[in-house]
Amino acid sequence: MERTFVAIKPDAVKRGLIGRIIKRIENKGYKIVGMKMIHPTLEIAEKHYAEHKGKPFYPDLIKYITSGPIVAMVVEGKNVIEGTRHMMGSTVPNSAEVGTIRADFGVTKECNVIHGSDCEVSAEREIAIYFRPEELCEDWKTMMELVLEAQFSD
Ligand code: RTP
Ligand code: MG
Repeated sequence: MERTFVAIKPDAVKRGLIGRIIKRIENKGYKIVGMKMIHPTLEIAEKHYAEHKGKPFYPDLIKYITSGPIVAMVVEGKNVIEGTRHMMGSTVPNSAEVGTIRADFGVTKECNVIHGSDCEVSAEREIAIYFRPEELCEDWKTMMELVLEAQFSD
């Protein structure tokens, strides 16, 4: 099953939005297989946003992502990368589609609440930055998986 890396960014943690954002991920039916609160070090932040190194906004981006704890997650589901990006909305909250996480909670392009991997290669790379393989809980089934399994077992 496809996996993605999602992070509730420091501004959202500070604003008490953790529960409301996780709720949306669960409501959608995605399976959370890894989760931890971590205050990104400079080294982790630079690895995470390596693709943006050298861009004008890079120093502020690093300052922001290291400004407090994030909630790092590995989320699993069918086409979860595309689905999560759709739920997040586009980078600038005021241009994001109404009803998306960034439109509903985001303030500025810099403080846009949530991160989600943009492709499979990024997802695997980002998951490896934040999680060791043994930190992932993959040996359990959601109620939906259990129900479907029971339904098709006779
Ligand atoms: P993210 O990686 O955080 O999920 O965001 P994204 O894919 O929507 O946007 P991306 O282009 O990857 O940019 C990463 C983060 O850098 C900040 N940014 N600032 N001032 C600027 O022009 C600018 N451009 C990007 C945003 O906070 C964005 O989330
Ligand atoms: Mg990005």
